Amino acid sequence: MKSLAIDDVVNFMSDNSFSKKILIGYSSPLQDFELQEIGTKTGSEIFEYGGELSVRFDSFTKENEFHFDGISSPNHSRVPSFLLFEFIQCSLDKNSNPIFKLLDCELVLSDLDNHLKSFLATRKIIIKGHGNPAMPEFPADFSFYPIQEVCGRKVLRMHLPSANPGLVEIREDSVYSLNENIEIGIEGLSGCDAYELFQELNKTIERSAALIKFRPEPGLLAVVNNNFCFHGREAPKSVSSRILRRTQYFKRLR
Ligand SMILES: [Fe+2]
Repeated sequence: MKSLAIDDVVNFMSDNSFSKKILIGYSSPLQDFELQEIGTKTGSEIFEYGGELSVRFDSFTKENEFHFDGISSPNHSRVPSFLLFEFIQCSLDKNSNPIFKLLDCELVLSDLDNHLKSFLATRKIIIKGHGNPAMPEFPADFSFYPIQEVCGRKVLRMHLPSANPGLVEIREDSVYSLNENIEIGIEGLSGCDAYELFQELNKTIERSAALIKFRPEPGLLAVVNNNFCFHGREAPKSVSSRILRRTQYFKRLR
């Protein structure tokens, strides 16, 4: 894996043909002025949180399955275009430094059979619940079509419950995600049938060439097109000591 300079990130985010959706390499931690410079050079706005340019995730015990950021924001008004993940500190102990996953949501569609694709194109995913109590401004109560067109290209849009049976509960018309305190349902399907479909999707993704998995290490930088990719991570077996910093950029699509 090569070292990335600011210009590599700028070029990646400026490519309107989206020929690459994921950029991974090494970089020293970016300073605030460098994060700003990337925004200025690519015509992107940084979504700030509490006056900070980035959010720092320094411990977690729960798994975070495949999703794209911003979907729970009111009217999806804060869906970032690009995510910049910096792995600042990682444990040498694999148990507390679980695998990170990135998925090309356009490419993965070729792994789904046509019957499933046409089914998903017409059924909404319905999310209900209270979500994260620390973020009441983002109530987890929304719906969306799981196959959508972005810039004229079809992509899978999904918020998948865990593939780990211990982290989900089947309800009458949804699957309850214990991690996230939300119910995820599929329009017109029982909870049982929705669970089967989510499991099928999880298995397909796990086998797909569109999936990139890596063990985080300090100095790794991953820049991801959030409109075309999911990210996710496996659950740590012990409390994670990983320090991950995430910066979100919004760039108006042409
Ligand atoms: Fe996320």
